[in-house]
Amino acid sequence: MKNNHFASILLDWYGLHKRDLPWRNTKDPYIIWLSEVILQQTRVAQGMPYFVKFLENFPKVEDLAQAPSEEIMRLWQGLGYYSRARNLHQCAKDIVNVYGGKFPDNYKTLLKLKGVGSYTAAAIASFAFDEPVAVVDGNVFRVLARYFGVSTDIASGSGKKEFEKIANEHISKKHPAEYNQAIMEFGSLQCTPNNPSCNDCPLKSSCFAHNNDLVSQLPVKINK
Ligand code: ADE
Repeated sequence: MKNNHFASILLDWYGLHKRDLPWRNTKDPYIIWLSEVILQQTRVAQGMPYFVKFLENFPKVEDLAQAPSEEIMRLWQGLGYYSRARNLHQCAKDIVNVYGGKFPDNYKTLLKLKGVGSYTAAAIASFAFDEPVAVVDGNVFRVLARYFGVSTDIASGSGKKEFEKIANEHISKKHPAEYNQAIMEFGSLQCTPNNPSCNDCPLKSSCFAHNNDLVSQLPVKINK
C-alpha cells in the first residue's frame, strides 16, 4: 500500500504512548516466544512476574528444555491453562532436538511448533525477524472492526479470516514489528472495549464506527 494512513497514524501514536515492556527490547525469538505464551489469555500485570521468573530460571531455550516438568509446572502455578506449560516444555525440547537450538525464522515453519498458533507465529516472525505478517488478537479485532466498520462475527472462522486479510493489507511493510505492537497497544490503551478514548483519538476523523455512532456496537461477537 502506497499511502498507508492507518499504519502511519498508529506508528506515530505508538511512539508517543507505548509502555516500556521488557519483551519489547529484544529481537531474541526465545524471549519473544516465552512472553507471548505467558501472555495468552493473561493480562500484562499478571504475566509480568511469571515472565521475569521464567527468564531468570531458564535464560536459554536449552535450560527450559532440560528442566524437569515438575519444576516448570510449579513455576507456572497460578497462571492457569496448564496445557500452555506442557506445550512450552515440549516446544523447547523440539527446538533443541529438532531445530538445533534455533527458532525457525519464518511464519510458516513457526506454525509447526507445539502450542504455536497463527497469533504466536505472527508475533515471533514479525518481532524477531521483521516478517510482515499481521498479528490478530482481541485488541486487533476491536480496532479493525471499529475503524473499518466490519460487523462480521469475530468468533466465527470466516470472521477470523476476514480480519486477518484486512490486518495483512494494512501492516507496515517497513516497520512490521512496530506496527504489530502498535495496533495491540492502541487496542489495549486507547480503543478499549468500554469507554474508549474517542475524544483524543488520532484516527477518529476516518473511523467508521466513530462517524456512524457504532463504537459501542463493534466488534460483533456472537457467543460461541
Ligand atoms: N499481550 C500479548 N502480547 C503482547 C505484547 N507483545 N505486548 C503487550 N501485550 C501483549
